[in-house]
Amino acid sequence: MKARMMKGVGVIPTQREVALVDHPEPAISHANQIKVRTLEVGICGTDREICTFAYGQPPKGDDYLLLGHECLGQVVEVGSGVTGFKSGDLVVPSVRRPCLDESCAPCREGRQDFCFTWTFTERGINQRHGFMTEVFVEEQSYLTAVPQDLRDVAVMAEPLTIAEKGLTQAWEVQKRLTWEHHNRDGKGRGYGRNAVVLGAGPIGLLGAMKLLIEGFRVFIYSRSPKPNFKADITESIGAEYISSKEVGVDELAKRIGNIDLVYEAVGEGHVSFELMRVLGINGVYIFTGIPAERETIPVYADNIMRNITLKNQAIVGTVNASPQAFVDAIRDLGEFKKRWPGAMKALITGRHGIDAHRELLLGKATGIKNVISFT
Ligand SMILES: NC(=O)c1ccc[n+]([C@@H]2O[C@H](COP(=O)([O-])OP(=O)(O)OC[C@H]3O[C@@H](n4cnc5c(N)ncnc54)[C@H](OP(=O)(O)O)[C@@H]3O)[C@@H](O)[C@H]2O)c1
Ligand SMILES: [Zn+2]
Ligand SMILES: [Zn+2]
Repeated sequence: MKARMMKGVGVIPTQREVALVDHPEPAISHANQIKVRTLEVGICGTDREICTFAYGQPPKGDDYLLLGHECLGQVVEVGSGVTGFKSGDLVVPSVRRPCLDESCAPCREGRQDFCFTWTFTERGINQRHGFMTEVFVEEQSYLTAVPQDLRDVAVMAEPLTIAEKGLTQAWEVQKRLTWEHHNRDGKGRGYGRNAVVLGAGPIGLLGAMKLLIEGFRVFIYSRSPKPNFKADITESIGAEYISSKEVGVDELAKRIGNIDLVYEAVGEGHVSFELMRVLGINGVYIFTGIPAERETIPVYADNIMRNITLKNQAIVGTVNASPQAFVDAIRDLGEFKKRWPGAMKALITGRHGIDAHRELLLGKATGIKNVISFT
């Protein structure tokens, strides 16, 4: 039987085009697969970059790649071997799929976020269609269940997993501080510590929320001077907003005291390495940014290197995430919603129909998180 054709948002690299494409509705072909109706797909810088044709490879045999990797869906059908999911359940899919190299230990253990061969695939990014279409089929192991009361915020689970993975790694590193009392009287592992989040976009704001629920004192250091709506959200969650246009990094460090953790979320080398200069004693610097390669920039390399050595500093990157990070992200979104319902609403700038895709992907970036709704 011929499959029904659905509309999806695709890029066609050979024609350098971004367009609505016809895509066949997929069917369950293995017992452990689940058919999911797409509810919402978030748009981020990665999607916008794919639309410049910098990367983004269609699956073999297709000339288009369906976009979309930040997705919330609803189960419509389950394969005969599926346990733990049923029709009507809300789910969030992960993005990266393992490489095929038998010797790649992380991929063989379901930790393709650490793939050694770099031949992994990614839904909506690299050789696998994304979720910006009406229906998709996925193996149950790549889906995480979402409580029904998080229907309005769960589209942000995927971008939050970056913070979950970043923080998990930071705490692994900080196990070296064996004298620290990790729960700090129930006030969180970050209680009494200072964190600077660099950048107030969706990655930075979600990272700041995660750091706040871990107990940190949080400062968001970002470009635009106050007043602006990102600063308003920052202050509504109990963090402090400081503009890099008004306060240099030395002054920032003087105001804060020891900077125990930096969560970089700007994707801009110059300001990121400038801030690294003032990372504190025993501090951890988490990079999330993925800058486009530009010209060489001057950095205070000797000063930074000296500090890394003498102050026992650690630097980690965070990309993609584990299944556990998805579970943690969904749990934390529940906590965010309880603590800051207004801010969580404000993070979603707008929900749009599929016809708005060109403006959202090719027009000027606006607001914080724009979402395409399929309902
Ligand atoms: N690791 C991963 O898996 C992953 C996943 C998704 C995204 N990312 C990366 O994460 C980074 C942040 O993403 P996003 O979507 O949150 O970005 P975004 O929406 O572009 O936000 C960037 C923020 O950084 C601020 N900023 C930019 N240049 C600055 C500068 N020179 N000094 C101080 N602040 C500056 C901006 O300030 P204004 O408000 O004034 O514009 C804005 O608040 C990007 O590099 C993106 O590629 C990584
Ligand atoms: Zn994204
Ligand atoms: Zn691998």
